[in-house]
Amino acid sequence: MRFSPKWWRLPVALLFASCMCTAQKLSDPEVEQRVSDLLQKMTLDEKTGQLTQFAGNNPQTMEMIKQGKVGSLLGVLGADEANAAQRAAVEGSRLHIPLILGYDVIHGYRTVFPVPLASAGSFDPELIERAERMAAKESTASGVKWVFAPMVDIARDPRWGRIVEGAGEDPYLGSVIAAAKVRGFQGKDMSDPDSVVACAKHYVAYGAVEGGRDYNTVDISEQLLREVYLPPFHAAVDAGTGTLMSAFQDLNGVPASANHHTLTEVLRGEWRFNGFVVSDWSATHELIAHGAAANDAEASFRALTAGVDMDMVDGAYISSVPALVQSGKLPASVVDEAVRRILRIKFKAGLFEHPYADPQREKTDILTRENREVARKLAFESMVLLQNKNNLLPLNRKQTIAVIGPLADDQSSQLGPWAGNGEAADAITPLQAFRQKMGNDHVIYAKGVDIPSFESGLAAGVAAPAPASATGVKNTESETKPASIDDAVAAATKADVAVLFVGELAGMSGEASSRASLELPGDQMKLIDAVIATKKPVVLVLESGRPLNISWAPDRVSSIVQAWFLGVEAGNAIAHTLLGDASPSGHLALSWPRSVGQIPIYYNHKATGRPIAPDRWHTGYLDSPSTPLYPFGYGLSYTTFHYGSLKVDPRVSANGTLHVSAEIENTGKREGAEVVQLYMHDRVAPTSRPVRELKGFQRVTLQPGEHKTVEFTVKGNDLGSYDPGMHWIVPTGTYDVWVAPDSASGVQGAFEVE
Ligand code: BGC
Repeated sequence: MRFSPKWWRLPVALLFASCMCTAQKLSDPEVEQRVSDLLQKMTLDEKTGQLTQFAGNNPQTMEMIKQGKVGSLLGVLGADEANAAQRAAVEGSRLHIPLILGYDVIHGYRTVFPVPLASAGSFDPELIERAERMAAKESTASGVKWVFAPMVDIARDPRWGRIVEGAGEDPYLGSVIAAAKVRGFQGKDMSDPDSVVACAKHYVAYGAVEGGRDYNTVDISEQLLREVYLPPFHAAVDAGTGTLMSAFQDLNGVPASANHHTLTEVLRGEWRFNGFVVSDWSATHELIAHGAAANDAEASFRALTAGVDMDMVDGAYISSVPALVQSGKLPASVVDEAVRRILRIKFKAGLFEHPYADPQREKTDILTRENREVARKLAFESMVLLQNKNNLLPLNRKQTIAVIGPLADDQSSQLGPWAGNGEAADAITPLQAFRQKMGNDHVIYAKGVDIPSFESGLAAGVAAPAPASATGVKNTESETKPASIDDAVAAATKADVAVLFVGELAGMSGEASSRASLELPGDQMKLIDAVIATKKPVVLVLESGRPLNISWAPDRVSSIVQAWFLGVEAGNAIAHTLLGDASPSGHLALSWPRSVGQIPIYYNHKATGRPIAPDRWHTGYLDSPSTPLYPFGYGLSYTTFHYGSLKVDPRVSANGTLHVSAEIENTGKREGAEVVQLYMHDRVAPTSRPVRELKGFQRVTLQPGEHKTVEFTVKGNDLGSYDPGMHWIVPTGTYDVWVAPDSASGVQGAFEVE
């Protein structure tokens, strides 16, 4: 038998690996002991260093790391880069305390998954967890041990560009997904080499900014805070998130990054969170602009004493905390507690035992075929079929299709606004996928129009679409010509069906990308009008980070598909669905407004004394219905489902369990997956209750003619609400219950809480 010259290394490596694993997993008392031992050795400057994060790396930062004046860096990517910075801390600083290296991995690292608003619509927490597990593996391969995700802000206002980063409008769905993401990122143990530390953000109520204007003020009741905005953070904490990020905006008059009530009373007091809180980018220094502090010293005092442990990038802590302590203004114990929280997470993350990234993994663990498969499955489950008149979809492969529109072949927009370390060239566009699946002869392409950047100064940063030449895609003659509506009309005229890819560029949603209008930007409406005028059947495929104004569409086009931004596998997932390889199963994670004037619009609104009704003297508008164009939870399939036989326990107590079931039948001609939703409504309570609240959901796949009893159990305590004194109670009396395909329909029953 011949051995390779390296055969002997294997047992040694295995031994080494197992030693590393056992050494990493410290028990909680061991962690506390090691933190205390280390704290005792630290100078005030070194302690403040642990509270300090800078962006990127440069010679000056390296010098500071060696002096023990930096605890974390963000945006240092690649194993070699990361290891160089880490070496400066571990080998170059007096106490050898490792850095924790963070990055925004909002919907994937290099394998870019669908934007979070889209993937929330899959109602598939297991698949979302798998995707985040892969994102964690890719991130750690690149030296990133901490991700600034999940973003768990509830948002009821699509003008706010950051609605795209979260799971939509519902606190229950948002909580389930927040927990799934934390589990995916942190895995079984955050010290595992392929796990990262999660960071639930932006704590808290950032999604409620007035007018949907990013960074704007928030003034909401404590009840709304507790019932809508806090739950996903609480779920992330219960799932074990190591960190949270404090938000930019002010909350009821106190900036979220200086808010003792939320950061200390609720987070540490009520929820017993013992990880650490990092400020958002420069949020400590921005307390000055808020008018909450006169200078960085006051800002640092306010943030730190409120409960913000680490200061992101502005250097406010490092420049002022030592003097604040020395002058006696800031108790040393406040600094010690913040350092303790940060070191605790560094120990738990295994950074002391295993500070370096393995450069080999960069070659094997990133953008793998397996990761792309999960990206495609999640993209496919995220897409929402909103309308399908005369069953135009799925398309017939033998037909000729005109693929039209500025987003049909835009690689960078497929990725979405916060694409991690993703590259446009990795993305499959719809045009590429259709050509690949149908052959060039059956696909005629015309871009039609370009989407221009917004002209206002604020929108100056919006990226123009990457020219096809920059993306490595081969151009045909029609692709190198300037976009023209005439070409689009000619393409539609020659084809059997026109598929229009319109919407927003990726940079039109996300941070600092609020819009006052929900109209399709640029000349896209002209393009749409011209294509509709050809009288060819039209499939409208919308790519956007928010619901756009399409109230004109249901009457004018046959089929409508909301494709959001689906990531690297966008094109494949879209072509797969439109060509009928599988039936769509995504549902909306928000209520789709008819117009910007209806905002904020959300399904779980309060009843009011004059509930929505067709007559004038009830809550409503003179010039618009009050209902959304499509309700939360809505989404069609190529098959149909019937809901019936609702069964519900007649009564339940606060500490009991309620059982609800209904019979769901696939009444169509093909297999399909349905998201079965459970809603409740408490008829009488001390505080007014939402007309419906989601309390459960299940994805079920049914063959034609198959039916299934879908069962739910709900704890009596989860039916409760806050009383006016903000105590959690479970009011007795009658409750309504629905098992439903969306938030506006379903089979209904009632039960009593005793
Ligand atoms: C964003 C955060 C992000 C941070 C670091 C900020 O501008 O609000 O969501 O994590 O930058 O990149």
